Amino acid sequence: MPTILLLGGHGKVALHMTRLLTARGHKVHSVIRDASHVSEIASISPLAVPIVSSIEDATDASADRSMDGVQWVVWSAGAGGKGAKERTKAVDEDAAKRFIAAAIRAPGVSRFLMVSASVARREKAEWWDELDLETYKAAWNAIPAYCAAKCAADEFLWDESRKAEKKDCGWEDICLRPGALTDEPATGKVDLGRARLPGGVTREDVARIGVELLERGTGGTGVWLDLVNGDEPIEEAVERCVAQGVSARD
Ligand SMILES: NC(=O)c1ccc[n+]([C@@H]2O[C@H](COP(=O)([O-])OP(=O)(O)OC[C@H]3O[C@@H](n4cnc5c(N)ncnc54)[C@H](OP(=O)(O)O)[C@@H]3O)[C@@H](O)[C@H]2O)c1
Repeated sequence: MPTILLLGGHGKVALHMTRLLTARGHKVHSVIRDASHVSEIASISPLAVPIVSSIEDATDASADRSMDGVQWVVWSAGAGGKGAKERTKAVDEDAAKRFIAAAIRAPGVSRFLMVSASVARREKAEWWDELDLETYKAAWNAIPAYCAAKCAADEFLWDESRKAEKKDCGWEDICLRPGALTDEPATGKVDLGRARLPGGVTREDVARIGVELLERGTGGTGVWLDLVNGDEPIEEAVERCVAQGVSARD
């Protein structure tokens, strides 16, 4: 049963993922920066192991060490707009790149799931209509540093994965790209793949899809899947996207 390194372990999506993964028997190394969150993580399951460490202060060497005994890595961290734009870059881009590179270097790591955002793209997607485009432009106007940082991290994951020797050894880089997140209960139904931008998606549904993709596997390298709530049951949506090789990367 693969062990997961979960970066940003006290985040809202990450807490849902921790519950789901441990319930399925996975050990989760949950990286948090605040020691007061240790008991909350540990109370989820004996399989949830809190690790107090600030990802934005990590070095290449400490990121390498964090991969020990781990097979899958999940990035669900984010500065969340707290602090100056420099901190957004430090967390959402620089730290993300550091852990992506460490995961690719680590011989035992075979999957990297990036929780990104559907607005993290340089240009309009070909399947969008005017409303999608307006939503995209509004996000880039409101939170440009965040959009740019997420773009850079996603492109790094893509580019480094294509270059990596391990791409022929079962490496899967999965970029899950939700729209605006909500704290509503999960609906279990989504628009996944070349999805719309407006509408939003519950954090619990994002966590469910992430776990489903990790466990199902994507059968190869380089999957980008946009996501909002929709009409298709999660398992069917994942199966459709994987089986048909759907990608939201133009
Ligand atoms: N908000 C949206 O509408 C939206 C939309 C699309 C995608 N996303 C992305 O979805 C992902 C998950 O979102 P979410 O709502 O679950 O995020 P969240 O609740 O804000 O969680 C992010 C976590 O990252 C942690 N973190 C920040 N800096 C850290 C550091 N230096 N070391 C360790 N942990 C650190 C935070 O820790 P603390 O709790 O200690 O601050 C927090 O627990 C994020 O990558 C986000 O960018 C968000």
